[in-house]
Amino acid sequence: MNTNFDLVIFGGTGDLAMRKLFPALFLADTDARLHQGGRIIAAARQALTDEEFRAKVSDALNRFLPKPPSAANLEKFLARLSYFALDVNNPVQYAEMKKSLDARDSQTVFYLSVGPTLFPPIINGLRSAGLNTPDTRIVLEKPLGRDLQSSRDINQLVLSAFAESQVYRIDHYLGKETVQNLLALRFGNTLLEPLWNRTWVRDVQITIAETVGVETRGEFYDSTGAMRDMVQNHLLNLLCMTAMEPPSSLDPDAVRDEKLQVLRSLKPWTQQTLHDDIVRGQYRGGTLKGEAVPAYAAEPGVSPQTETETFLALRTEIANWRWGGVPFFLRTGKRMAERRAEIVISFKSPPHSIFESPLAPNRLVITLQPEENVRLYTMAKAPGDGMRLREVHLDLDFKDFFHERRQDAYERLLLDVLRGNPTLFMRNDEADAAWRWVQPMLDHWTTSNLSPAAYGAGSWGPPAASRLTARDGTAWHEELGG
Ligand code: BG6
Repeated sequence: MNTNFDLVIFGGTGDLAMRKLFPALFLADTDARLHQGGRIIAAARQALTDEEFRAKVSDALNRFLPKPPSAANLEKFLARLSYFALDVNNPVQYAEMKKSLDARDSQTVFYLSVGPTLFPPIINGLRSAGLNTPDTRIVLEKPLGRDLQSSRDINQLVLSAFAESQVYRIDHYLGKETVQNLLALRFGNTLLEPLWNRTWVRDVQITIAETVGVETRGEFYDSTGAMRDMVQNHLLNLLCMTAMEPPSSLDPDAVRDEKLQVLRSLKPWTQQTLHDDIVRGQYRGGTLKGEAVPAYAAEPGVSPQTETETFLALRTEIANWRWGGVPFFLRTGKRMAERRAEIVISFKSPPHSIFESPLAPNRLVITLQPEENVRLYTMAKAPGDGMRLREVHLDLDFKDFFHERRQDAYERLLLDVLRGNPTLFMRNDEADAAWRWVQPMLDHWTTSNLSPAAYGAGSWGPPAASRLTARDGTAWHEELGG
């Protein structure tokens, strides 16, 4: 990294900063990818000295890095850090911050790793101190609002102080290696493209299943739910990367224009589809990996009468020539049977079979986590007499080919911000289009008063989720033996 920088992290003592941001920055530093003079300044409410703050970060690095840091690397990294005790409503303090930033010739980045209620005072504070100069950048962490209107309010506020080109709306799923590999797979090969459309694809499933519950975030999650936490952002981004047209280049706007087209082509909701095509669930107590786990309603910080969904499955379509009529199933949930994020493309069955054995449709499974691989299910002849066909799979495991360290998603995205590359960040119009599609679902739940269906922790969600795919004559990947 050749640019010197000052990275100011608001919410610098928070959970995200400690679990993700500092470990990611540490890894980038250890790989010599941060400018030697780069500074990282954490701004938060607590009164802490630099030394106390560094001790907290050191503790977090020991807990959250894949392996403990070496003493030399740790010392080098901690030396970059300083702490700024901030009352977000106090303009004098932003002026002090400005003095320290002005004294240096470096790229300034403000990272708002705080809840959206703190966006207005921080943005106003930065503006009143004249810290929003045209060469600064601002990173906004999700959730960017809780509905269409509040997300528009946030955008209006941020765009009153910064130009769109200065704003980086982060979605860490876009920073995952395998998500970018989707671009390589689709547009670096000719093999798949002719099949990647309604003529050959029967259905597409995108799942992000987690085994964790809400951990220490019960209060936040209870006012958020799976739709706002995962679908509006991560799942829709995966859908865009899967379904978009080939961009003309990797230019940030060329990629984002194509993603936007997908969001704009999502089939509008009707009363019928709102009713039939969405399954909300909430986990009850159960057993996960042999351990008893509590119901969502009994988690700390969650209201015992909670109606928040911890699972969501939905069916939609993309109304354009490539995809018209192909069902796209999106699914996410907490406390599910396995941690797995995957995109499953099921192809149509052969139009005529000459075999007695039933033919399972070919499936291309792109697994994003826990492992990163691509698997193609095909039919093959089983050895022996007669023509008995059985499903087999071809596996492409990236770790067999690439031995380099995989960059963490936040690491890549933070480096992209420092470099000024917004390709993997959401543009204002993308975020708006995503919310516009999500809003009718939120409205429907408010007016219909429907409670989420129960599912046992450690399962694949409520039975209604299986009925959703069955209606289209298909089944979830794991039900097909994936
Ligand atoms: C976050 C959500 O954005 O993504 C969390 O707020 C979720 O609820 C997390 O657990 C999942 O990310 P990953 O990278 O662990 O799949």
